[in-house]
Amino acid sequence: MRPGHPFLLALLLFLSQAAGDLGDLGFLAPTPGSSSFLGFDSSSNFGPGSGSRLGSSEAPLSQSFSNFTGSVDDRGTCQCSVSLPDTTFPADRVERLEFTAHVLSEKFEKELSKVKEYVQLISVYEKKLLNLTIRVEIMEKDTISYTELDFELIKIEVKEMEKLVIQLKESFVGSSEIVNQLEVEIRNMTLLVEKLESLDKNNVLAIRREIEALKKKLKECEASKGEGSPAAPPPPSPGSCGHGGVVNISKPSVVQLNWRGFSYKYGAWGRDYSPQHPGKGLYWVAPLNTDGRILEYYRLYNTLDDLLLYTNARENRIAYGQGSGTAVYNNNMYINWYNTRNIAKVNLTTNTVAVTKTLPNAAYNNRFSYANVAWQDIDFAVDENGLWVIYSTEASTGNMMISKLNDTTLEVLNTWYTKQYKPSASNTFMVCGVLYATRILNTRTEEIFYYYDTNTGKEGKLNIVMHKMQERVQSINYHPFDQKLFVYNDGYLLNYDLIFLQEPQ
Ligand SMILES: *[C@@H]1O[C@H](CO)[C@@H](O)[C@H](O)[C@H]1NC(C)=O
Ligand SMILES: *[C@@H]1O[C@H](CO)[C@@H](O)[C@H](O)[C@H]1NC(C)=O
Ligand SMILES: *[C@@H]1O[C@H](CO)[C@@H](O)[C@H](O)[C@H]1NC(C)=O
Ligand SMILES: *[C@@H]1O[C@H](CO)[C@@H](O)[C@H](O)[C@H]1NC(C)=O
Ligand SMILES: *[C@@H]1O[C@H](CO)[C@@H](O)[C@H](O)[C@H]1NC(C)=O
Ligand SMILES: *[C@@H]1O[C@H](CO)[C@@H](O)[C@H](O)[C@H]1NC(C)=O
Repeated sequence: MRPGHPFLLALLLFLSQAAGDLGDLGFLAPTPGSSSFLGFDSSSNFGPGSGSRLGSSEAPLSQSFSNFTGSVDDRGTCQCSVSLPDTTFPADRVERLEFTAHVLSEKFEKELSKVKEYVQLISVYEKKLLNLTIRVEIMEKDTISYTELDFELIKIEVKEMEKLVIQLKESFVGSSEIVNQLEVEIRNMTLLVEKLESLDKNNVLAIRREIEALKKKLKECEASKGEGSPAAPPPPSPGSCGHGGVVNISKPSVVQLNWRGFSYKYGAWGRDYSPQHPGKGLYWVAPLNTDGRILEYYRLYNTLDDLLLYTNARENRIAYGQGSGTAVYNNNMYINWYNTRNIAKVNLTTNTVAVTKTLPNAAYNNRFSYANVAWQDIDFAVDENGLWVIYSTEASTGNMMISKLNDTTLEVLNTWYTKQYKPSASNTFMVCGVLYATRILNTRTEEIFYYYDTNTGKEGKLNIVMHKMQERVQSINYHPFDQKLFVYNDGYLLNYDLIFLQEPQ
């Protein structure tokens, strides 16, 4: 990739220069094609046919204007100069000329500002692409290796971006040089991804998020040209329950491998949710020790960028966590206390236990954990309404129970009894007071197959297919503001977007 953006710099320089030169009727354009892009067409403004604007009553003037010389230098810049053969001083003509020059210059400025806008937009994309490339290159040099990366997904994203650039290019009638650059870089990205694929390196999928953002920007740029596709119905506003529940789910986007590495297959991750500061929550990653049981270390990141780059992490140690049923709400982490039916609240600022409480009669230590996931008899969940815990008791015969907790005191506020046997579900999450349970279809797909609505007491079957990267979904956490699922998939951190029924039921 190029180290900087000399082309854009040169173009901007050229544009300001051109604006200044116009007064002297020295006229510069990058290529003949580009002149129409700038709002000028040398043939119509300076050619014989358009002499009328400059001197309709005086044919000689228009003829003298048609006598200009032009040359194209080796960088494709077209230089034109016009010679005025008149030796006597035609004051009135000069006056008219001045007026015309003024009109032209205004028109030029107008077009120029449009161009600058696009140039700036594109320059931003270019920087992002460059950054992306550098990061890919860094990852390329990374030595951790892993064999099951879904490069297909990246390739599809890059392809889509390429398509958008081509559309963008078409809308830049006459001057697509800048867009061409972008196109080349995106092609290069495709090549890089293919190269990486063959190298089979780890963690490259973190860039998917960047590509996503880039794609969005391109779409915006495209839309700003008035060619945007008709808008899809807006998703429900963040944190709102004005919808009819989950009806579908996006493909996963792989955020990254957990910070402890490939062997840490068990764990959880998510984003703190607090109704007071819904969009401000920090990200947490809590891989269990390799025994799949003890939660000892967890990390906090202020931003997703920090998480992606594994930078500015706060790492804390607790020695008493069990299983990956952890959830974070209002800057507190809720955990199952090791080897007990107790639950605890850990203040994330101080990493100290604020409250512990016994969850009455809760089964624990693999009595009724999830299918394929051990030590998760007690699974916390957070949704728009607050903190919940999903568990079973001997009395419930292993069927799932949902309890609403007071997040301050950990007291059980209310409990709902489902008819769904907990060990036959692979995991659960809550959205707007509705419990959703997943089960394994095969090594690559999971199904959201069951719901229980605590608002109505209704329960039933669903069949929403959920793709996954790895075999086991170790934990699922929902974030009400992002309306995303945070899934810990055998060491990989995945995000899914939930799709809701538009109409409330
Ligand atoms: C694309 O990659 C090729 C070879 O890797 C390189 O020569 C070229 O400069 C790159 N183009 C851009 C725009 O980065
Ligand atoms: C154009 O200018 C050149 C020299 O300045 C002159 O020789 C030539 O006759 C001119 N042509 C016309 C069409 O005026
Ligand atoms: C890429 O961008 C991020 C923030 O957008 C910045 O922190 C990082 O240093 C950049 N990386 C490179 C290699 O330029
Ligand atoms: C669910 O979303 C996927 C794309 O993620 C789409 O292919 C599928 O058709 C959708 N299913 C339904 C029932 O809308
Ligand atoms: C966590 O502890 C800090 C310091 O004692 C306190 O200021 C903060 O309010 C506590 N946070 C929560 C969410 O309880
Ligand atoms: C939770 O407990 C605290 C302290 O007893 C109390 O102030 C608060 O109202 C309770 N919240 C709910 C929702 O019951």
